[in-house]
Parts: sequence; C-alpha cells; structure tokens
Amino acid sequence: MHIASVGVSKVCFLFSLSLCGLLLLLIPALQPKAHQVDLPQPRPQVKTSPNTLQNSTGRPARGASLTTVLNTNTEKLGAAIKAENGNDYRETYSEENSNTVSIPEGQDSIFPGFTSHDLLELKDIFIAVKTTRKYHKSRLELLIQTWISQAKEQTYIFTDGDDKELRIRTGANIINTNCSAAHTRQALCCKMSVEYDKFIESKKKWFCHVDDDNYVILPSLLRLLSSYHHSQDVYLGRPSLDHPIEAAERVKTDGLMSVKFWFATGGAGFCISRGLGLKMSPWASLGNFISTAEKIRLPDDCTIGYIIEALLEVTLIHTHLFHSHLENLQKLPTNNVLEQVTLSYGGYENRRNVVSIVAGFSLVEDPTRFKTVHCLLYPETDWCPKLKRRLKN
Ligand SMILES: *[C@@H]1O[C@H](CO)[C@@H](O)[C@H](O)[C@H]1NC(C)=O
Ligand SMILES: *[C@@H]1O[C@H](CO)[C@@H](O)[C@H](O)[C@H]1NC(C)=O
Repeated sequence: MHIASVGVSKVCFLFSLSLCGLLLLLIPALQPKAHQVDLPQPRPQVKTSPNTLQNSTGRPARGASLTTVLNTNTEKLGAAIKAENGNDYRETYSEENSNTVSIPEGQDSIFPGFTSHDLLELKDIFIAVKTTRKYHKSRLELLIQTWISQAKEQTYIFTDGDDKELRIRTGANIINTNCSAAHTRQALCCKMSVEYDKFIESKKKWFCHVDDDNYVILPSLLRLLSSYHHSQDVYLGRPSLDHPIEAAERVKTDGLMSVKFWFATGGAGFCISRGLGLKMSPWASLGNFISTAEKIRLPDDCTIGYIIEALLEVTLIHTHLFHSHLENLQKLPTNNVLEQVTLSYGGYENRRNVVSIVAGFSLVEDPTRFKTVHCLLYPETDWCPKLKRRLKN
C-alpha cells in the first residue's frame, strides 16, 4: 500500500513537472496578437527627404503646414521634368501607357492576381452626381427617371439648394452642400470637397463622379471597375486634352513653379478606387480640397488630377468609354453605344449633339436619347414602349 502510494505521487510529480514545462513553452504562443488586429490604413505617399516633416509614423508631422509638404514634392517633380532636358517627362510616361488605355471588353485585370472574378457589385460603387438648383427640373429629373432608378441606394446628388418635394417624390439621395450656386472654381471645388468626404464616410469601394448631363450605363461601369481592384491605386477617366496640363503652382518661398499632369475631365465622369481615395486625404478631406485647388487656381477636376498625378505620382488610366457634351457624340458607332460607361448630350447650344441611337422614341419625345438608351438596357421599365408590339403594328 505504502509503496504503491509513493509510486503514484512520483508519477504525479513527474506529470505536473512536464505540464509546467509545456505551459512555459506555450506562453509566447498564447500572447494576444495585437498588431494583427490593428491593420494600418494606407498612408499618403509623400516622398519627402527623411530629415523633413516625416514623423516616425510616416505621416506629415502635426503642425507641418500643407504648403511645406507641397513644396517638397514640387521641387522633386520640377527636378524630374528638368532632368529630361526639355523632353516632356510626363508626356512620354503617359504615352507608354496609352496602349493599356481603353479597356477592351472582357479584358482581365492589369494587376496579376486580381481578375474580374473578384465579385464587385453595384452597391460597392459610390456615384456622385453634381448639379445645381436650377437644373433639378430640366436635367436631374431625367436622370432620376432613368439610370439613377437602377442605382438609387448608392447614388448621391450634390446640389446647392433644398428640394424637399423632389426628395420625397423620388426618394433620391439629395445632399445640399450649402456651396454657392455660382459656376465658379470655388463653388465647384466646394461641391467636390463634400462629395469626397461623403465617399470616405460611405466605406464604398469605388468613387465615381458624373455631371447632371451624363447617363451612366451601369452594367458597363461595373464591368470596367471589375477589372481592377479597389485597394490598388486606380484613377480612370477621359483626358480632356491630348497633352498634360501645365499649371503654375503657388509656392510659399519661390513664388510660382510649373507643374505638369494629366487629369480626367469631370464632364465625362471619372472613377477613383478607395485605396487611392484614402491616400488623397491630406489634400482632399475636410475642406483641404479647397485650399489645394487655390494653390494651382484650377477647377475641381484639374485639382483631382493634380493631387493624384502630381502629388501622389499615380498615373491616370486613359479610357474612352467616358463621354462629355464637348465631344461629337453622333460619331459614336451605334452598335457600341451601350458598351460605353457614360454618355452625354449637347444641351441648348448644340441640340443635335446626341448619340445616334433610334428605338421607340422620336427626337421630340427624347431629345437627349437617354430614354431610348434606358429602354434598350431595361426594356421592362413601365414607361418604355413595348417595342415588339410596335413592330407588329
Ligand atoms: C508624431 O506622430 C504621433 C502619432 O501620430 C503624434 O502623436 C505626435 O504628435 C507626432 N509628432 C510630431 C512632432 O508631430
Ligand atoms: C447644410 O446646412 C444645413 C443647415 O445648416 C445642415 O443641416 C447640413 O448638414 C449642411 N450640409 C452639409 C453638407 O454640410
């Protein structure tokens, strides 16, 4: 009995000893992995020299003024342009890219690893429509009746006056920016600034901006954005010029400095990935957009290009799937119209400048051709003519 109990306690002792040892070995593995929980947000790529501004966090140090950050960047850009000895640095850079420009149908991602099979849904896209109070009736109602009706939840209309009646009647998301209704640079930048902040707040994967005379072909938009990934730096749109714009940037100490960059024309619409959108924050969020625009004294869409191309050094992906009223829209081949991402129309000055697509509506019934396009895309819409029956008659 006695011997047996000694044996048992010996075994117990040895067992607890090995248990303690095992626990000791496990301690590091049991520590909470705090750093994995707190994923860092993308930081703005301000590539300044290490002795200036940069805090250990990689952020511009608190209190460092926006101007200083801009200056450091411009010096570098200016140097890069000069270094090419008169050769247009930006132009060559973009020409190389022009092969990848328009994204042919069905083309897969330019980023290996990401394909169009990454499921992107319409609800992942934040669509901002810029308008003004006086166009609510003549322009906005048509958009709400047509394409916005298919993307009601994620489309936000940025205007400069209240319109409770329109909001209640249509259920559209109408945001009064409280910006001036004047068509000035300041007023336009004020609206873009509100659009940007609302997009960031929305947590959506893509930001697309259009004007109140654009028809957005939602299936094409979805197809185009599906070939990229929202966490990459993507800036997509139609360049309004065939060369980069050259702007004089106001620099605190040296006066003016020349800066060249491409920008996507706002009148045709453009899209920005969330990854890139977050990096724009130091120059775009909470009213900073307005002060950035003042530095180069250019309109809202140019300022977007300035932040992305000149400051963040991300290249605009040129695409010809976006269209503004400044183009000859009649020239668009009829059988390609529904593959475009945005359309527009000439308006008062140029009534005949519309896409040449005929089905169901006369030019008097549908002067912009937006209803015709809409009924070809969504023939089940209740107000669309029943084309088949018409053909029989
Ligand atoms: C550096 O960054 C930290 C964290 O963001 C901040 O608390 C600190 O004030 C910054 N230092 C300076 C000098 O701005
Ligand atoms: C515009 O002003 C109204 C009334 O002061 C306010 O409720 C609203 O939030 C403002 N809009 C924006 C986008 O700040």
